[in-house]
Amino acid sequence: MAIAAGLFVWGRHYLTKVEEIDHQHEEIACLLNELHAERKKGAPLEQQRALYAALEKAVVDHFRTEESYMRRFRYEGFELHRAEHNALVERALALSKQLETGDGAEVDAGLEYVKDWLRNHLLTSDRRMGRFLAEKLGL
Ligand SMILES: [Fe+2]
Ligand SMILES: [Fe+2]
Repeated sequence: MAIAAGLFVWGRHYLTKVEEIDHQHEEIACLLNELHAERKKGAPLEQQRALYAALEKAVVDHFRTEESYMRRFRYEGFELHRAEHNALVERALALSKQLETGDGAEVDAGLEYVKDWLRNHLLTSDRRMGRFLAEKLGL
């Protein structure tokens, strides 16, 4: 999937070797950048909300995927990792409401938060989990 340059700059350092997870990460980055670009262009709120809904769904599906891998291989950092996911889901709920009320500055701050969260989580928790899974999966 080609990623438009934007809010989240994709790079090989985000790869975990687990293809399904990497693909989902790329999709999330792509949707985040698309939403960011649409906002910059001043796209109608309706369009932004549709993109945000797609982003939210991609994130929730992705967390489900990672959590099922972690359960399957009894990853010892599972609870902590899941708590990080839950924190983002909570923040995303607030962002969804802000998008409904059309509060631009709040939405931009929220997207910035999601981008930073994603970068940090990918480079620390997902990287650690990825190393563990790659070994279990013989990758
Ligand atoms: Fe994760
Ligand atoms: Fe992840």
